Amino acid sequence: IDIKTLRGATGGVTTIDPGYKNTGSCESAITFLNGEEGILRYRGYAIEDLADKADFLEVAYLLIFGELPSKEQLDKFHSDIKAQSHVDEDVKKILDGFPKSAHPMGVLSSLTSALVAFNPSSVNVDSEEDMYNAIVRLMAKFPVLTAWAYRKRVGLPLDYGDDNLGYVDNFVKMMFKKPSGEYTPNKVIVDALDKLLILHADHEQNCSTSTVRMVGSSHAGLFVSISAGIAALWGPLHGGANQAVIEMLEAIKEDGGDTHKFMQKAKDKQDPFRLMGFGHRVYKNFDPRAKIIKKSADDVLDALGVEDPVLDIAKGLEKEALEDNYFVDRKLYPNVDFYSGIIYRAMGIPVEMFTPMFALGRLPGWIAQWREMRLRKEPIGRPRQVYIGENHREFKSLDKR
Ligand code: ACO
Repeated sequence: IDIKTLRGATGGVTTIDPGYKNTGSCESAITFLNGEEGILRYRGYAIEDLADKADFLEVAYLLIFGELPSKEQLDKFHSDIKAQSHVDEDVKKILDGFPKSAHPMGVLSSLTSALVAFNPSSVNVDSEEDMYNAIVRLMAKFPVLTAWAYRKRVGLPLDYGDDNLGYVDNFVKMMFKKPSGEYTPNKVIVDALDKLLILHADHEQNCSTSTVRMVGSSHAGLFVSISAGIAALWGPLHGGANQAVIEMLEAIKEDGGDTHKFMQKAKDKQDPFRLMGFGHRVYKNFDPRAKIIKKSADDVLDALGVEDPVLDIAKGLEKEALEDNYFVDRKLYPNVDFYSGIIYRAMGIPVEMFTPMFALGRLPGWIAQWREMRLRKEPIGRPRQVYIGENHREFKSLDKR
């Protein structure tokens, strides 16, 4: 059946597929994923090549606009972003209202939504030009908000970046600049973060991306669609896993380092504990991003001269899982976030900021998917259900219940 016929069809048979395990929600030309063979490509380019040879802003352009940029296109994209990097001063007051203990994902989702009030023209995007303007605004302001969420948490003054720096260098400076203005760039940190952001940049119709497309399908604006995506990413079964992994590895270390004990716990069906960072809805062989990150973790820790005992615990768990029938039978392998937290930690990023780092990386993917959905004029997302509640009941007034 062609898509136009399907679009017109409502009523009749309703399929039910909890978790949408076998339901395609859209046609997309952005990311190709083969879970059996562990293949991931953005716009046709292998993730291994992009992680090795491209930088994050190039990859963002590729995802959003479909082609690798020429030097002129990339320069224009970057300078358009830089021109929008100011965040209204009143946003600081909103941030001020949050307790210091607020989780930065909640802060980020709220502030991204609040940005609409200061950029009302970003909502009605009737042309590609309107879309472009909304996109560069968000690409510009989101790293500022992420850095502010971090600085608020650690008690540093809120600051802006440095227009002379690249997109990722600038973000690192906004994070780590001391109150005195002192900042020593560290190439190892910038390169490692750039690579991590590329690996997280898109992953077709995952939970947060589907959320962005769903919210955007009602023609709510880009910023609130992304704000909803951030909320979806926060959960420990999705992006929140990177925080949960480090907390789990720490707990294993505190407990004496017995990985076997925690493996048994994860296999016990009476126990809700799961091995965080293991398993993936789509990858049933290996997660190609995890392969790249594992090597990166070794390199980064070496280059920074950091010794982290949880890296050994992580490697021990992975080795044991590869030989364990429970994990092998269910095709549970380390996913992208099993090793990412170890790198973030080596960079000096606190654990609550791990998922915001993921959000920063995923931003261009969310934007690309939202733009594709709008350009394709997709209909509002509105699944059906199979009703299992009561049949018709007679209403009883309050005094008779
Ligand atoms: N530890 C122990 N058992 C697991 C794990 C795990 N991490 N993951 C799945 N299983 C088991 C389930 O209990 C189930 O067993 P059963 O068939 O005996 O009932 C089987 O493997 C299948 O698991 P489902 O939950 O049905 O798989 P689903 O595709 O729905 O879930 C998910 C995928 C959410 C990633 C899951 O593997 C999980 O919870 N992993 C831990 C959290 C995590 O790392 N999330 C990050 C995902 S990557 C990302 O979002 C960036």
